[in-house]
Order: sequence, then C-alpha cells, then structure tokens
Amino acid sequence: MKVLVTGTEGYLGCLVAPELMRAGHEVVGLDTGYYKYGWLYRGSDRNPYTLDRDLRRMTVNDLSGVDAVVHMAELSNDPLGALAPEVTYKVNHGGSVRLATLARRAGVSRFIYMSSCSVYGVAEGADVAEASPVNPQTPYARCKALVERDVAPMADDDFSPTFLRNATAYGASPRMRFDIVLNNLCGLAWTTGEIAMTSDGTPWRPLVHGLDIAKAIRCVLAAPRDIVHNQVFNVGDSAQNYQIKEIANTVASVFTDCQLSFGDSGGDNRSYRVDFEKISSCLPGFSCDWDAVAGAQQLHDVFSRIRLTSETFTGRGHTRLKQLQYLIETGQLDADLFWTY
Ligand SMILES: NC(=O)c1ccc[n+]([C@@H]2O[C@H](COP(=O)([O-])OP(=O)(O)OC[C@H]3O[C@@H](n4cnc5c(N)ncnc54)[C@H](O)[C@@H]3O)[C@@H](O)[C@H]2O)c1
Repeated sequence: MKVLVTGTEGYLGCLVAPELMRAGHEVVGLDTGYYKYGWLYRGSDRNPYTLDRDLRRMTVNDLSGVDAVVHMAELSNDPLGALAPEVTYKVNHGGSVRLATLARRAGVSRFIYMSSCSVYGVAEGADVAEASPVNPQTPYARCKALVERDVAPMADDDFSPTFLRNATAYGASPRMRFDIVLNNLCGLAWTTGEIAMTSDGTPWRPLVHGLDIAKAIRCVLAAPRDIVHNQVFNVGDSAQNYQIKEIANTVASVFTDCQLSFGDSGGDNRSYRVDFEKISSCLPGFSCDWDAVAGAQQLHDVFSRIRLTSETFTGRGHTRLKQLQYLIETGQLDADLFWTY
C-alpha cells in the first residue's frame, strides 16, 4: 500500500514509518518540523521522504494515489493543549477532520487516527472499554473525542476510518519525549539518582510501548477491511494498567542507584483502568511485545550508550512544551503555530 504518515518526525512517527516500510509499504511522511532540534540518537536506516508541510495547508493533491493515511501530526499532550487551547482545537480537531475529509475526497480507503485513552478521563469502577462513555478532561482529550465523533460518520463503502485509542506511550525513540511518565521517571533516575514524587502515586495509567503502537498500526493496515471498518480499538494490554507508584517502583528496580519517595497529595486527577480485550481478540496478529520493566531496561541501555546528560534530559529538544514556547518566544512561530519564515 502507499501510506501517508503524518507526524513522521515525532516520537511515535519515527518508529511507525520504518515499521511500515519494513512491512513492505511505500511510505510518504508529512511533518511541519516543530521538533527537528530533538534528535537523541540515530534510530533506523529507513526514513521516508517527508513533505515539510503544515497539516492545515494540505491539499487534496497531496493525497493523490495514497491508499491509507496514518494520522499522527497533532499537538500531542495535555500541557501542549493547555498552552493555547484555541490553537489546539484548530490543529487537532479542525486539522484532523479536514484531513479526513480531503482523504475521503481523494479516494483514500483507510484512515487510521491516533486517538488516546485520555478520552476516558476520570473513570471510577470497572475498566473502561471501547463502548464506555468518554469523559475527556482537557482540550487535548476533548479534541480526540471530537475527531472520533466527526470522522466516524464519514465511513462508507469506500472509506474506512479506524480509531486507535492509545495508552500513554513509553520507550526509546530517536525523537525522544521526556514529558511522558515512564520516560520522565527513567530520565530523572539516570540524571539525578532520585525520584521524589509529590503525589501518592495512586492514579491508574495504562501504558504501551511505542513499538507496540507501531505494531498495532501495521496490523490494522493488514487486517481485512470488515474487521477495522469504523472501529475503535484501545491499544495496549490489560496487564499494563499500572498505578503511578508501580511505574516508579519499576523504574527504581531497573535504575538501582535511584532513591524513590512519595508525597501525600492526590496530584493529577486523571485516573482510569482500560480494558484491552477487543484489540487482542479482534485484530489479527496483535499482542504487546513489551512491558514497563522491559521499557525501563531499554531506556537504561540507551542512556548508558549515549551518556545522557541532564542538559539533554531537561532541555527543549525532548520536552514538547518547552520547544514550542521557545519557537513562539523567539518569533519563529506565530500565535497560530505557523512558521513565520
Ligand atoms: N505519545 C503518547 O503517549 C501518545 C498516546 C496516545 C496518543 N498519542 C497520539 O499519537 C500522535 C503522535 O504522538 P507523538 O508522541 O509522536 O507526538 P510528537 O509531538 O512527538 O509528534 C507529533 C509530530 O507532529 C508534528 N506536527 C504537529 N502539528 C503539526 C501540524 N499542524 N502540521 C504538521 N505536522 C505537525 C510535529 O512536528 C511532530 O513531529 C499524536 O496524535 C498523539 O496525540 C500519543
């Protein structure tokens, strides 16, 4: 298949594109390049040709001859969404719905959208499954729910959207992000020897390795259309619903010189356990290859190999919010996050 992957210069995009190329797909990337500055290590010898284009300026011609779109280019977490919520709605909601509309018009038959388990927000009681009500708590999560709501009705005999509600990712990537929980705790453990949590670590957070997300996308593209047509899949593994304190203990067990302590506040109120039964039973070939212990070990190996410094860990190269703030403050991006030159 000819696959257009948006966000190929992102944390997940630079894992997904090589995975699809290895599977035999012809991949073209698209990315506006907000995080070019962040490049932790050389990852793959397979990188797709990437259009240097803002998602909001794509045309139907950019999709000519494309069989499938994997859409990952968005402002990618809650703090970014809070930086300028109205821009988040323009990029993540408006830009994504517009892309799906263009793709359908161009005759693209598969559209894989990177949604998030954060659409479940705060959920008490039983594990949330795909049919559970969504309860998004932030502009970022609300945009994910809105894209699902607006793209699902576009499904027809020629256009099959699939919505992947990914758990919070972890693991090594050349375009590393240190603003997600397991990666952040590993970086703290390596660079400071200490994880001092202000919260009690009780909230639940499902995790999934970036390479398992890439595998899910590969499996969706390979699946018969009727299995994935207009379907929502939680992406992860029911065994990988962790409490934050469990994630911290896992990191401390791998980074053995690290001191770990907890506070007593509730902290971040997002807490949900997710049921991942549907993806493992319905999507042919999918199961997670990684867990938090293996992910922490992988990061320990990478940090050791590249001699990760605290400047790299705390710098703007690998923390999305800091990099966007820098680009805005220095006038390189305007208020709508378009490049000024
Ligand atoms: N990492 C996670 O834990 C996680 C979990 C669930 C869902 N997701 C979703 O997966 C997708 C990829 O996440 P990621 O962690 O790789 O994010 P990322 O921030 O590392 O990468 C996003 C990429 O998209 C590009 N981009 C952003 N806005 C753009 C625009 N307007 N036009 C063109 N390119 C643009 C950026 O330059 C960046 O390279 C996002 O949609 C994110 O919401 C991520």
